[in-house]
Amino acid sequence: MRDGEEKVAPEATAARVAQLIELLEYHGRRYHVLDDPEISDAEYDAMFVELLGLEEEYPALRLPHSPTLRVGGEILESLPSRAHSLPMYSLDNVFSLSEGRDYVRKLLRLLPDEDESSLSFWMEPKMDGLAMELIYERGFFVRALTRGDGLTGEEVTGNMRTVRNVPLRLSGPVPELVEVRGEVLISRKDFAALNARQEQSGGKLFANPRNAAAGSVRQLDSSVAARRPLRFLAYGTGRVEWDKAWSTQQELMFWIRDLGFEIAPNAELCPSFVALEEWWNSLVAARDSFPFDLDGAVAKINSLALQEKLGFTSRAPRFAVAFKFAAPRARARLLDISLQVGRTGTLTPVANLSPVNVGGVVVRRATLHNEDEIRVKDLRIGDTVLVQRAGDVIPEVVAALPELRDGTEKVFVFPAFCPECGGSVFREKGESAVRCLNRACPAVLRESVKHFVSKAGLDIQGWGGKLAEQLLRAKLLYSPADIFALKDDDLLRLERQREKSVANLRAALEDVRRNCTLPRLISALGIRHVGEETAKALAGEFGSLDALSAADVGALCRVRDVGPEVASSIRDFFMAEGNRRLLEDLRGQGVWPTARAKSVAEPEAGRLRQGLLPFSPGAEKEGNGAERESPKPGASPLYGKTILFTGALSALGRSEASHLAEKAGAEVLSRVSARLDYLVVGDKPGSKLKKAGTLGVVILDEEEFLRMVNAPVAPEEA
Ligand code: IVH
Repeated sequence: MRDGEEKVAPEATAARVAQLIELLEYHGRRYHVLDDPEISDAEYDAMFVELLGLEEEYPALRLPHSPTLRVGGEILESLPSRAHSLPMYSLDNVFSLSEGRDYVRKLLRLLPDEDESSLSFWMEPKMDGLAMELIYERGFFVRALTRGDGLTGEEVTGNMRTVRNVPLRLSGPVPELVEVRGEVLISRKDFAALNARQEQSGGKLFANPRNAAAGSVRQLDSSVAARRPLRFLAYGTGRVEWDKAWSTQQELMFWIRDLGFEIAPNAELCPSFVALEEWWNSLVAARDSFPFDLDGAVAKINSLALQEKLGFTSRAPRFAVAFKFAAPRARARLLDISLQVGRTGTLTPVANLSPVNVGGVVVRRATLHNEDEIRVKDLRIGDTVLVQRAGDVIPEVVAALPELRDGTEKVFVFPAFCPECGGSVFREKGESAVRCLNRACPAVLRESVKHFVSKAGLDIQGWGGKLAEQLLRAKLLYSPADIFALKDDDLLRLERQREKSVANLRAALEDVRRNCTLPRLISALGIRHVGEETAKALAGEFGSLDALSAADVGALCRVRDVGPEVASSIRDFFMAEGNRRLLEDLRGQGVWPTARAKSVAEPEAGRLRQGLLPFSPGAEKEGNGAERESPKPGASPLYGKTILFTGALSALGRSEASHLAEKAGAEVLSRVSARLDYLVVGDKPGSKLKKAGTLGVVILDEEEFLRMVNAPVAPEEA
């Protein structure tokens, strides 16, 4: 035989290899998937060694699904990225059963032909690992992709091939293509053993099973991944190319199980919301004794026809929702209460806590909101308190534990003077905020300047809060208007500023000076209770800062969304001497946009009325600022689309909603027609919803609509 030529295997040997693979697949599955082995480890190992020997002798008999490949070996330089054929979505969350009920009510509004009794839920624990997609062609494992950003993942095929409960070949009749999705994780027991091994070998310890799993899956050397106790639990499919169809999530999951996958333990069909509640309560009770870390549960509408009807929002399916466990809590000592002074002079008390780990994050500070909060919760310095964190939400002090007091605790007395400038503080009747009245208070100035340059203010590129602080420390600023008077030399004196960066800062300032719009400037002033939306309404109504600053409370109250409290705050702002000076300085610097009201030819009139266009004699001719605030293609998914509202919206008035839609570049229609792209559905929708359903219009709820126009929505999962 010549060099390099492979030996041809006798037929009987080829048959033995096939038999060994089948036996090892079967017993591997009994051991790793079903947790019910039929043979001893030694018997398994003997077959494995026999197969290895034959494959070595006859390399032509090495098959891509051979269990001997599970030991890994390939080493990559980097993990290639690859697009998912269907996006891998995230999930929306609910934090209690009552929020879960709201979710079901919302679904029923989107499904006018259904009632609650027709909904059943496929419930699964929500596993705290990382999402993975395994791709099988004609039944053979060919590729594994991490979730990545949902559209593109990293290819980790070699590593996932080493995961013992991942079938390398599927059982039963198999589709041309199937993408099985699930979670890769490490069980609590395996995690403890892994960390013990790491400790012994002087390796790095992992913070938790999730981190260990994530690190292992992304190894460049698959033999390292092979030594990590990874497991894959399936929860669904991506693309499937097959003529077979399922009618429920349950059927689909049983099929996935029959293909050879492990699915989540405790998965169950709940035929009603009451059954769901029971299932959830028992999961909560069993949470700590679960074999792996849980993140909550996932409820999926069981009927695949309804799933299809409900579809997806831009980030998550509507037919599924994550039930999250209550926020983690921990005990800490309330060491002290300090006060933060905000840009409107409000003194916000902050709890300084003994460092405490709350659900994986070390917390040292928590806002106490205001004076009343401290009194109502009877928090005393020295108290043991309960601290809570829910998702991304900032930590909060839930309550004191008075039974743990020893008498040394001190009642906190709100100071009569500002901790930053020593000026007197004042609490208005009927308000909870205590405020420093000194307009020259350094803290007020610092926060006002930071706000002035921020996104909610003039949004000056490159001018973050850090730069503002540097300028204040260097005594180069005494008012937000001073930034327009800064010389290049002033900026060059600051740390880390070079000619190039200074030129960029200067260009950004000039851009704002020329193009800033009236609503932006009003918002940048930082008037209490005046956010971006109110600023737009005020700009549209008054058309200039001269008119706005002269307006009385009555005139202000006629503006949309402005009530007496907001009106008097605006009035107070323009009455204050320091603020009058600020306005004069801005005018002097040429930062003085106006918005012409009424009398402008369509189509610009609409936008001008809302104060969206800059208007200074130069700006109009150059048409430059128009682009700054007018909707841009691609800036919002609503750009160039048609939209209509039905039913009562909870956070928005109808006109405000229309206004937001127009701002995003959508056209608001007055009735359902074939031309309609989106119908936003509020409470008690009318006949429009039914009609839209027959025309294939995309249905949105209020929250989805707000997300699409980029307005703030309630905080959600990281
Ligand atoms: S279903 C369309 N079921 O949770 C999204 N996800 O927060 C379908 N997860 O990225 C996901 N356990 O990685 C589903 N039983 C389960 C799950 C589960 C964990 C993860 C999944 C997803 C994340 C979303």
